[in-house]
Amino acid sequence: QATARAQIGVTGLAVMGSNIARNFARHGYTVALHNRSIAKTDAVIAEHGGDGDFIRTESMEEFVASLERPRRVLIMVQAGAATDSVIENLADLMEPGDIIIDGGNSLYTDTIRREKAMSERGLNFVGAGISGGEEGALNGPSIMPGGPAESYESLGPMLESIAAQVDGEPCCTHIGADGSGHFVKMVHNGIEYADMQLIGEAYDLMRKALDLPVSEIADVYRQWNTGDLDSYLIEITAEVLGQVDAATGKPLVDVIVDQAGQKGTGRWTVKSALDLGIPVTGIGEAVFARALSSAADQRKQAQGLASGELAGAPTDKQAFVEDIKNALYASKVVAYAQGFDQIKAGSIEYGWDVKPGDLATIWRGGCIIRAKFLNRIREAYAENPELPSLLLAPYFREAVENAVDSWRRVVSTATLMGIPVPAFASSLSYYDGLRAERLPAALIQGQRDFFGAHTYRRIDKDGSFHTLWSGDR
Ligand code: ATR
Repeated sequence: QATARAQIGVTGLAVMGSNIARNFARHGYTVALHNRSIAKTDAVIAEHGGDGDFIRTESMEEFVASLERPRRVLIMVQAGAATDSVIENLADLMEPGDIIIDGGNSLYTDTIRREKAMSERGLNFVGAGISGGEEGALNGPSIMPGGPAESYESLGPMLESIAAQVDGEPCCTHIGADGSGHFVKMVHNGIEYADMQLIGEAYDLMRKALDLPVSEIADVYRQWNTGDLDSYLIEITAEVLGQVDAATGKPLVDVIVDQAGQKGTGRWTVKSALDLGIPVTGIGEAVFARALSSAADQRKQAQGLASGELAGAPTDKQAFVEDIKNALYASKVVAYAQGFDQIKAGSIEYGWDVKPGDLATIWRGGCIIRAKFLNRIREAYAENPELPSLLLAPYFREAVENAVDSWRRVVSTATLMGIPVPAFASSLSYYDGLRAERLPAALIQGQRDFFGAHTYRRIDKDGSFHTLWSGDR
């Protein structure tokens, strides 16, 4: 009979789960292992038993019994019904004060529901967003735990020790109550979608507008990675573009089917943003661009639709590459500004009190959107926690103002050459909309009052007004 000595248990030992379990073991924790099918548990011990002190368990009962109290169990199974069923099984075996952590990509509304059900049974439920993919899980992810603040006292130090560290600070902090951790992880993924789409548009322009060979484009990204754009996604872009297909000798990117998949977190971000009334246009365009890419049949039938007269390529290639870089940077600032707006709105809606500066801090390492840039965001919120928009932080304001001429040249050139740049273009339109003194919304209010007597407000006096339009009967 196992003694209750494991400090953490991990159930669900697919790649993410087993790597997190190994990460805990490598940090000196005794880790109880459990998986529905025992083969995965045995494989972890056979292949990685040397990582540290693992306890092999077969049944859920044995697993729970092997944990010291308060018990801490990290669930790493498939999101959705599987997670619900594992939570139920665990809850039946656990005792008040024990902690259940869902480290999967759960929808934050599911986490809110589960936390409520568990707290009614005296259990602490922590929905934790974990970013960084397989590699991050093993060597240090970015961790976004929500749930009751008390649970963080016993759990936080453990999570902080296995998280990525940047400048001596862990990429993990308590985010807020119930679903807050999964909510910010969701928006993180949405920003990741936007970032990837923007990088993709920049690549497409270098190929189609400038006719640069793929290997040279890889060099451009390598070079960009030494400056303000320094980030994991730019770094891997250079790697992907540098890859040559062994079978054909072509750049690998040219033999990959151009239809982007998605698992749903980008879509969730946009759905939530629609409900909160926050324009996340960059993320939205990124999700829709993936959808368009995947509409294979429609795309095939649309081949040959007229382009109209197209402009020629920019003559100064070097200068245009510089313009693309500036447009990418400015559009990226917009995507982050919008994502942080959504987090602020979600935090108010659900009463989470999420600190944007904390997020910038814990996203600097471990996660997919890790970037030098996040230091600047952290500084911006340190200077002014009530920042109305990231675009109004002095540093970003100046950076975008310096980039805006390039941004306009890129979007107009792309349009005149018939190259799609949905994220670049909509980010620029968002910027122009945000800074506009007057918007055509006044006309929309007039239309609404005309057909539905919805009333409008006036700029020169208080109150609601309705006009007796000539169309009124
Ligand atoms: P992968 O990440 O390899 O694609 P997955 O199908 O997403 O795998 O499953 C991830 C984990 O969830 C696995 O550990 C899986 O257990 P098995 O190895 O036994 O398949 C676990 N899992 C999926 N559904 C489950 C359920 N209903 N109950 C318990 N564990 C489940």
